[in-house]
Amino acid sequence: MKWDQQQVNDQAGKRFLITGSNSGIGYEAAKVLAGKGAEVIMAVRNQEKGRLAIESIMKQHPKAQLRQVELDLSDLNSVTRCVDTLIAERKPLDVLINNAGVMMLEKHTTSAQGHEMQWATNHLGHFALSSGLLPLLQMSTQARIVTISSLVAKMRMAKIYYEDINFEKSYDKMATYAQSKLANAMFAMELHRRLQQLGSSIISVAAHPGYTATNLQQHMGLLGVVLNALFAQKMAMGALPTLQAATDSSLHGGTYIGPMSMANYRGYPGINSWPDAANDAQQCQRLWQTTESILGRPFFHFA
Ligand SMILES: NC(=O)c1ccc[n+]([C@@H]2O[C@H](COP(=O)([O-])OP(=O)(O)OC[C@H]3O[C@@H](n4cnc5c(N)ncnc54)[C@H](OP(=O)(O)O)[C@@H]3O)[C@@H](O)[C@H]2O)c1
Repeated sequence: MKWDQQQVNDQAGKRFLITGSNSGIGYEAAKVLAGKGAEVIMAVRNQEKGRLAIESIMKQHPKAQLRQVELDLSDLNSVTRCVDTLIAERKPLDVLINNAGVMMLEKHTTSAQGHEMQWATNHLGHFALSSGLLPLLQMSTQARIVTISSLVAKMRMAKIYYEDINFEKSYDKMATYAQSKLANAMFAMELHRRLQQLGSSIISVAAHPGYTATNLQQHMGLLGVVLNALFAQKMAMGALPTLQAATDSSLHGGTYIGPMSMANYRGYPGINSWPDAANDAQQCQRLWQTTESILGRPFFHFA
């Protein structure tokens, strides 16, 4: 059976937070979930873009329960402010979707705290956000954390470059993106292991959208335009792995969802294999400890 939007069941009464949901896959997922009755918090860095995204979804789903919260994942102070705002509301969060991302920034750029921008946005920010929102996820009886990785995480250049984790000695825009997306997969899998060890009811799963035409390819120039026209699938298809990972009640923690056709680049979603490093508990523990030491606090500080 193909897993399409029809498989997303009624989401009334459930509360989702999706990072980077003003465009691309996050926007599509927000639209579908809101249309199925979910309350969706759109965590976005640009409030005007967030407002326009909400307006656009409301045109299709006038009864949608949508709001935005300000979040710049590349700035750990912004992550703290976002967490503090939501924690103060004391409302259960059922699903956190770690979706936002930047890819292949042309020049070496640093975040507010001085970390390389793709590493800071894609990995560090989501690690800190997931940790901060744990108390709200613990208030839900069926909580899950969905982290979006990429096929890039299986490429040969995808590794954690411990000797130059911020790419200060030598910047390679593809390698740093690959590092960050591998870290997303390793984080999701290690989080699954640790939640299980703690006996938590929260589950951690991951997804990737294959190759989907979005704003993500904006730094690829003409190559991005050509590849998108020839190979990319549409956003509605690209959002299906995220939607399955976020809503399919038959999934267990530690599952990785992605397209099932053309070497996982396209098609309807299903269970994919993890990048090797995500299956290697020792490598994941090293990444986890390194990230905790960069952030200066343990992930489970509230648990
Ligand atoms: N498209 C693909 O083929 C593909 C393949 C593999 C993996 N992915 C992954 O899929 C996810 C979604 O990407 P997409 O393809 O939908 O790209 P997209 O259309 O560019 O969406 C990315 C979203 O992330 C937001 N974002 C970027 N930096 C942020 C920050 N510092 N703080 C908060 N939000 C930030 C963007 O906000 P702005 O609008 O303000 O920039 C945008 O809303 C990413 O994790 C990406 O790595 C995509």
